[in-house]
Amino acid sequence: MKNHQTVPIPLLGLGTWKLRGKECEKIVHTALELGYRHLDTADLYGNHADIARAIQSYPREQLFIASKLYMNDLLPHQVQVAVPRFLEELKVDYLDLLLIHWPNPQVRLEDTLTAMQSFQEQNRVRFIGVSNFVRSHLEALQQFPVAVNQIEMHPYLQRKTLVTFAQEKGIAITAYRPLAKGAFEQDETLQKIGKKYGKTASQIALKWLVQQGISAIPKASSVQHLKENLDIFDFELEAQDWQQIDQLDRGQRFCAPEGLPVYEDESV
Ligand SMILES: NC(=O)c1ccc[n+]([C@@H]2O[C@H](COP(=O)([O-])OP(=O)(O)OC[C@H]3O[C@@H](n4cnc5c(N)ncnc54)[C@H](OP(=O)(O)O)[C@@H]3O)[C@@H](O)[C@H]2O)c1
Repeated sequence: MKNHQTVPIPLLGLGTWKLRGKECEKIVHTALELGYRHLDTADLYGNHADIARAIQSYPREQLFIASKLYMNDLLPHQVQVAVPRFLEELKVDYLDLLLIHWPNPQVRLEDTLTAMQSFQEQNRVRFIGVSNFVRSHLEALQQFPVAVNQIEMHPYLQRKTLVTFAQEKGIAITAYRPLAKGAFEQDETLQKIGKKYGKTASQIALKWLVQQGISAIPKASSVQHLKENLDIFDFELEAQDWQQIDQLDRGQRFCAPEGLPVYEDESV
């Protein structure tokens, strides 16, 4: 894999899938007031303009903004049109991170990445990356400075082989759906670990990611959840906690959209 700079990605970000309109603007604004600096969006989420309104009073260099090109926008001429549109919608001069949202087997991804790189050269995108890629995809793209692979990852889907491979290659992992959509609140192991530290089961799930150096982008819409998800930097999980969380891995995906290919981590 081509040598590349480490991405200065804040470990805890805000996911914005399903947030739209005034609600999105309000939640992103509240998150920024609480101290969030990393925002995850995508063309598919249809909320660039809402985010633009929320961030307007914040110095651009203090924010880390990631967006994604959807599967139907990966041909080079489509990338050339989409990226300037993203910047216009978000009212920013550059994106911190531009990702391919999902691999499209119909498109030569080398061509997509070359088009994405052209925006890097113009300083309109700082880092380029991918999402939902597995080892075989990453291996085929060794000549590109892929900085991040954003994947579904949480205690029920630990993806150790893929994470180890990516980290060996210097590719940062961002964990999406890190709370398994709220499922951990019912998990007795995480609840029990949480009790030791005065934290909730969801906080333990997020800590398990960030303590490994993996950024997490939980979505939250209440102030309580927004605060709770950020409040995970004042304790450290101990060895016995890691052993117990290891046991929770059951390869369970909470994101397998109908009609989209799901790839196995070891697939070659
Ligand atoms: N690259 C991709 O293909 C991809 C796919 C899926 C998601 N993503 C990204 O990942 C982000 C997060 O994933 P997600 O939104 O699907 O799921 P998630 O973050 O795992 O879960 C969000 C759900 O958890 C609840 N929640 C938030 N904080 C909580 C807490 N402290 N305790 C209990 N429940 C809590 C939220 O409730 P409230 O809203 O009521 O607070 C919401 O219902 C997305 O928003 C998106 O940015 C990327």
